[in-house]
Amino acid sequence: MKKFTSVFDVPSIPDLIEKALAYKANPFKDKHLGANKTMGLLFLNPSLRTRISTQLAAKNLGMEVIVFNVGSEGWALEFEEEVIMSGTSVEHVKDAAPVLGKYFDILGIRTFPSLHDKAKDYCEFFLQQFIKYSGLPVVSLESATLHPLQSLADLITITETFLEKRKPKIVLTWAPHVKALPQCVANSFAQWINAWGQAEFVITHPENYELDKQFTDGAAILYDQKEALKDADFVYVKNWSAYHDYGKVYTSDPNWMLTQTKLEETRKAKIMHCLPVRRNIELSNEVLDGAQSLVTQQAGNRVWAAQSVLQEIIKELK
Ligand code: CP
Repeated sequence: MKKFTSVFDVPSIPDLIEKALAYKANPFKDKHLGANKTMGLLFLNPSLRTRISTQLAAKNLGMEVIVFNVGSEGWALEFEEEVIMSGTSVEHVKDAAPVLGKYFDILGIRTFPSLHDKAKDYCEFFLQQFIKYSGLPVVSLESATLHPLQSLADLITITETFLEKRKPKIVLTWAPHVKALPQCVANSFAQWINAWGQAEFVITHPENYELDKQFTDGAAILYDQKEALKDADFVYVKNWSAYHDYGKVYTSDPNWMLTQTKLEETRKAKIMHCLPVRRNIELSNEVLDGAQSLVTQQAGNRVWAAQSVLQEIIKELK
């Protein structure tokens, strides 16, 4: 792979899942593959899981890793073309990114959306400039619209958990939250499940929370959460703000929080969430702490997702 920014960079999803599970069984089998290679991890926004799991993955492959918190430690970056830099930004990405290209072999970047400027967010304005100006293979550590490392870890978790000889029913359900959140995890999960094509896929949310159809086409969309949850094998819980009326929060109705009672109509569904989670807002304590919760396993699998992706990129480095 030359980069990893969406499911469309992946030649074969099943092969990547298989590779990840092989690393889970034997983390150090390619411990010399990345010798003398350095990965830079740039964070324009906070992270716990992505930051640590990607470092561990790179180290398991023998790479050096340097983490740089651009948002809090770096010069304020400018991204606009033809700008007269008389404001607060100190350095243009056109100047900074080529320097990173001299320091690193692979670049990981986390950026978040503005949730104000839909056109700019959905063209991945920040990520694309790092790709263009660094000249490096870029790994998305979550971008304005997608979170592919999370989605790969989600599919690894579903694959290792569901052993029946039929397609699982997977339900992505909107959950309440206290603030406006990006659509990226939901977009990305939908994109990967649809591309994988090995599930019955249902998305449920209140009216006005429709996601961009480019990600959800192929899924059944229901406004009735109870109906959607019927016979589910997996329930993926996530809040997102409105896509069409961009960034708007229409409701935080607590009736959308997933509770143990709601799971009674499922096939003892396993519960997934990317974390961090607002307890007793998005998910009740009883569900999060219950036997059906996969959230810690899912976060653990972030290491193997990142390791399989990095292996694919390292083997194509010159
Ligand atoms: N799920 C996830 O990306 O977690 P972090 O924001 O902590 O990296």
